[in-house]
Parts: sequence; structure tokens; C-alpha cells
Amino acid sequence: MTKEKVLEILHSSKNYVSGEKMSNILNISRAAINKAVKSLREEGYEIDSVNNRGYKLLFSPGNLTRGELMAYLSPERMEKVVCFESINSTNLKLSELAVSGAEDSMTVIANEQTRGRGRRGRSFSSPKDKGLYLSYLMRRSETPKDVTGITAWAAVAVERAIENVIGIQAKEEGRDPGALPDVLIKWVNDIIINSKKVCGILTELSMEGESRYVNSLIIGIGININEEKEDFSEDIRELASSLFLETGMKINRARLAAKIIEELDGLNRAFPDKPELYLRDYRDHSLVTGKEIFVYDNIELSDGRKATALKINDDFSLNVRFEDTGEITDLSSGEVSIRPM
Ligand code: BTN
Repeated sequence: MTKEKVLEILHSSKNYVSGEKMSNILNISRAAINKAVKSLREEGYEIDSVNNRGYKLLFSPGNLTRGELMAYLSPERMEKVVCFESINSTNLKLSELAVSGAEDSMTVIANEQTRGRGRRGRSFSSPKDKGLYLSYLMRRSETPKDVTGITAWAAVAVERAIENVIGIQAKEEGRDPGALPDVLIKWVNDIIINSKKVCGILTELSMEGESRYVNSLIIGIGININEEKEDFSEDIRELASSLFLETGMKINRARLAAKIIEELDGLNRAFPDKPELYLRDYRDHSLVTGKEIFVYDNIELSDGRKATALKINDDFSLNVRFEDTGEITDLSSGEVSIRPM
């Protein structure tokens, strides 16, 4: 805790802050301050110290800790954020918290998942110190049908957060933000850069048995951020990538987590009344529109059916024309791919 409080003070001070001042604020000894600074340095923080002036934070690795997130989120927002160094799955943890009464917008973040869950019972590789694994709770009382669009809205929220953070970081590093690759959405909600998946989203509903209304909705987001090529297993290396590999920048994960939370809070306020705030970005960033695609009932069991993706409808469903029969239809769930799987 001391370490996090010291970090919070260093984050909030533009100038050097003396050890004496910190020990007064936190009501702890100078030795405890020195110890906290030493331990932060060991974690990758660069903290300058100058005689008679004190300490100044020069570089932060953006670890997924409360101390780091506090640099970007208000204390009130932080009350509904829980961080884990390692956990089985943030979706699982949040559903447990939901059962024991967690409030709307409660967010669980992990630095590592040991049983990360993907769509259709697949696993989601979630290595330590590399990515971001985040789950967000929405307390809802709509019918399941009324919340189907949420996964598409969430993709827009994530796309906006990624674009914002890589744009800010490019500017800070003196790069041309205009030269960054496009961040695209593959219907329904995979985030793709340079034809590779960098983020997957798994939305899980819990229902009230009697009324058949949704009780809670958990949006689980997994982003590959600072992985190197060898961090991906051979079988997914051609399909998956990370923000680092596609932009050349090591991204501050805490800043991205905070931006995603901010975007999801906005989504939570807008859903379901203001789809127009999401539809345009969804269409503008759609990877599949106008392309030949393969449509799967079950990607593991069946061959894809060739179709052309015609447009994204107002309810975020995908309007397609099948090549074999010429039939035109709307898909509201399922999986599509650009290449045969
Ligand atoms: C997919 O592409 O199949 C969806 C992957 C979703 C992964 C995220 S990581 C955070 C949250 N917790 C989980 O166990 N899964 C989701």
C-alpha cells in the first residue's frame, strides 16, 4: 500500500517532491519512503533522486496496479476497480462479484489469466505482463434480445480507446500519428490491425430465471498489447498480433485500461438509447463490408459458406448475400472470416 501511495504522489507532482514531504503526507518514516522507491525502481519505474530536492518520476512502465491506474482515473472511479496480479478469468471473477451484489460498472483487471475464456468455449491466451484482461459489469433489466447489439458497441469503445492511446503515445514519441495503421472491427467484435487480431471480446449474460430478463451483463475484453512474436503459440502466430508488433510502440497498459474504462462508462450511459453514437464508427471501421467472406454456423465443425458482406444494418447485424443461392439475409450472431479457416 505504501508503494502505491508513494507512486500516486510521484504521479501527481510535476516537480521533485522531497522524501520529508512524502513522509509527512503519508505519516510514515523516511526509511519506509526509501524502501518504497527502491521497490518501485525494481519494478521498472525510473525515479530520479537529487540531494535536497527529492524524487521525480521520469518513466512509468504502466503496470496494471491501482497505483498506476490512479494516475488516470478519479478516486471515485477507482472505488469500483479491482486489480489482480493473476486470476483464473476476469469474467469469472466478476460474475462471482455480481452474484454477491457488485454495483453497476464494477471493473476487474488482471495482469495475467490462468484460464482466460474465449468465445465458444475456446481458451484465451493471457500471458503475464503483456496484455490487458478486463471485465466490466453492466446491471441491466432488458430482455436478452434487446442487448444483443452490446458486443458491437463494445468493439467501438475498444477501437476508440486503442486509437486514442496509440495516437497520444505516437505524439509523445515524436512519431507521425497519421502513419499509424488503421484499427478495424471484424464483425461482430474482433479488433484487427494489419489483418491480425489484437483483441477479442466475450460478453456473458446472466438471467433472472423467473422473469427471463437480463440481470447482469459482463463485457470481457482481452487485448494483446506488448507481446513479441514468440509470445504467440505457433498455431495462432499467423492470425494474432499485438499493438507493439503492429505499431512499433510499447504501450502503457494502465493508460489503455483507464481509457477503456472511460469509454465503457460512456457506453453504459448511452446504451441502448443512443445507437447513433456508435453506428457510424462501427461502419467506418468495419473490416468486412464490401468483402467476400466465409460464414460459419460452427467454425470448428462446419465449412464456411461463401458470401459477400453488403452492409452493417442499423441494429449492427450484418447484411450478406450468399454466393451459392444468391439469398440475401441478415446475420445477427455467428462467426465470419475473411479467409477460409
Ligand atoms: C474471443 O476472441 O474469443 C474472446 C476473448 C475474450 C477474452 C477476455 S480477457 C478478459 C475476459 N476474461 C476472460 O476470461 N475472457 C475475457
